[in-house]
Amino acid sequence: MAEPGYKDIEQLMNDDFSLLRKQADQVCREHYGNKVFLRGLIEFSNYCDMDCLYCGLRRSNKHVQRYRLEVPDILSIVKKGYNAHMRTFVLQSGEDPSYGINKLCELIKKIKIETNDEAAVTLSCGIRTKEEYKILKKAGADRYLIRFETSDSLLHVYLRNGITLKRRLQAIDDLKSCDFEIGSGFMVGLPGETKATMIRNALLCKELDLDMIGIGPFIPHHLTPLKYSVQSPIEQTLRLVSIIRLLLPEANIPATTSMGTLDPYGREKALQAGANVLMPNITPASYKKSYLLYPGKICLEENGFECINYLDPKIKSVGKEISFDIGYSKHFIKKGVYNAAKNERLETRNN
Ligand code: 5AD
Ligand code: SF4
Repeated sequence: MAEPGYKDIEQLMNDDFSLLRKQADQVCREHYGNKVFLRGLIEFSNYCDMDCLYCGLRRSNKHVQRYRLEVPDILSIVKKGYNAHMRTFVLQSGEDPSYGINKLCELIKKIKIETNDEAAVTLSCGIRTKEEYKILKKAGADRYLIRFETSDSLLHVYLRNGITLKRRLQAIDDLKSCDFEIGSGFMVGLPGETKATMIRNALLCKELDLDMIGIGPFIPHHLTPLKYSVQSPIEQTLRLVSIIRLLLPEANIPATTSMGTLDPYGREKALQAGANVLMPNITPASYKKSYLLYPGKICLEENGFECINYLDPKIKSVGKEISFDIGYSKHFIKKGVYNAAKNERLETRNN
């Protein structure tokens, strides 16, 4: 789509969804065939200094049993993932300053060794300084996920309890300047947002020229100030998945767990609407149940690797198949940053 504007997206918001979905699915298949990239998600710390109004892990929620996995624990999960052919690991936490930069670097370097440098390391640990992002990149981190959550600056500062959209966008800019492959995105159906917000959210993804876009429905959590919010229907999120596929044809777009939580077939529906990535949660079951950003999260009783067996028929049911490829975003490869970054890392390691 050539330079889409507000009016174009508005039109897509009103178009017949079954046609839009088919169009997005076709564009996705043109770029990624029938492949669905798998990412092993490891929720390594649920401590968080932030107090986002929408999130079950917010600092003020005293009912959360907090945990922090140590480096050897995480490595043993990675090892299992590697043996199960996974080639991307996503390390996610709250904003936990106790997981300092040195410990993160040690973890990244050890994961690279454990996986014979065949796996990508994706971090999702919130806002850090540009200097820290630089150090993490140098240690071998490949990708970073940091959703902007909502493009409405007033809503953002309110829902994120004082943290501005400007600061969030600064972090994305900092990550870009460090040559990370960057994922961002937003929640759909936050209280206070309108159709115009959703359109602007989609446009911001395009403007930020993202490599990966993760979106999911906002699901009210009973232990947060937003507990009485109205749940938005899954169709709204699916429509936005399709729109984003058309806006950024070569981006990686996950069928997120929150979609599967809201609708038992939510992830399959997303894979038919333009999504091409799945992120099975391989955090040990004993910890996963304490990582509740929102309630009702799926696969809580499983150890994650069982989850993969369970995903296989689901993916086949929509005419796609699991790919154990490292799964770079074509959008990122085209930018030419990828080779430069890889060479720089090899040089660092050889010195
Ligand atoms: N519902 C859905 N998604 C949520 N997140 C946080 N809280 C919720 C919720 N209640 C999402 C945010 C965050 C990501 C890790 O989880 O978008 O960036
Ligand atoms: Fe912390 Fe992220 Fe939850 Fe905000 S959304 S409270 S930063 S874990």
